[in-house]
Parts: sequence; C-alpha cells; structure tokens
Amino acid sequence: MNQSVLHQLIYISDAAVAVTQELLSAIKDRAQKYNPEKDITGRLLATDRHFVQVLEGPKDAVEALMNNIRQDSRHQNVRILSLRPADGRQFVHWSMGVKSYLDAQEEQDMIQVLNMYGGCQSFTEQQISALEFMLKKA
Ligand SMILES: Cc1cc2nc3c(=O)[nH]c(=O)nc-3n(C[C@H](O)[C@H](O)[C@H](O)COP(=O)(O)O)c2cc1C
Repeated sequence: MNQSVLHQLIYISDAAVAVTQELLSAIKDRAQKYNPEKDITGRLLATDRHFVQVLEGPKDAVEALMNNIRQDSRHQNVRILSLRPADGRQFVHWSMGVKSYLDAQEEQDMIQVLNMYGGCQSFTEQQISALEFMLKKA
C-alpha cells in the first residue's frame, strides 16, 4: 500500500509519571512543533492515570511518530487499538489538541470511563468506536 495514504491510529497507555498540566504543556508544545512538519493532526486525552491519543496523517509519518511515542518513558503499556486508512481527517483543526481530565469535578463521568478503558488489555470494535467518539466530542 502507498505509504503516504492517510491513516488514523488510536492508542491507550498508562501514565508512568505524575500527569500534571506542566507535563501536558510540554507534550503539547513538542507536538505542535513537530506534528505540522509531518502533516500529522490529532488529539490527546489525559486523566491522572491514562493517555488516549489519536494520530492521523500519512501512514509512514504516523508510524514513525508512534515509534517515538511508544518509547517515551513517561508512559507504558501502550496498546494500539487501531491503525486504519481514513477517507479524511477528523481532527483537521488540531496539530495536537490536548484535553486534560485532571481535576475537573464536573467531568468525573468521563474520567471514570477513560480510566475503565485504560484498565482493559483488549478492545472490541464497539469499545474502539466509543473511544473515537470521546476523542471527537471531548
Ligand atoms: C502521551 C504522549 C503523547 C505524545 N504525543 C506526541 C505528539 O503528538 N507529537 C510529538 O512530536 N511528540 C509527542 N510526544 C513526545 C514523544 O514521545 C517524544 O518525547 C518526542 O517525539 C521527542 O522524541 P525524541 O526524544 O526522539 O526527539 C508524546 C509523548 C507522550 C508521553
């Protein structure tokens, strides 16, 4: 398959360090510099325990970035939920939009659902669709 065909990747991981606004800002700064250079867009959701991220862009660029991210010691147990060709971008406005669920009292439901998914090791298509929905609507 042509390596430049638009693909979408979703993964979930466990935080290996304290997730703070400073950490998320550092990731966001790095992503907002690097991702546009590689034609990558996406979104990152973070709770105090887990990250869920969607990356979209040319397949080779998405895979190269994912290789980097996977080796990042700030998280572990990285589970790729999907890597698929996509007809178009869903996160066109974000080189990397970051949404944190760290201390927002009113978002406890989202935090609970994300942490529940974060505790799973395998995922059904329905669960992956639900996470994709959360990435889009968050
Ligand atoms: C949860 C998480 C998401 C990340 N997302 C991105 C991203 O979208 N783009 C990016 O360039 N780096 C991202 N990073 C940072 C990379 O893992 C890595 O630190 C960065 O690419 C620098 O790699 P280098 O040390 O090989 O230069 C993320 C890190 C974490 C922990």
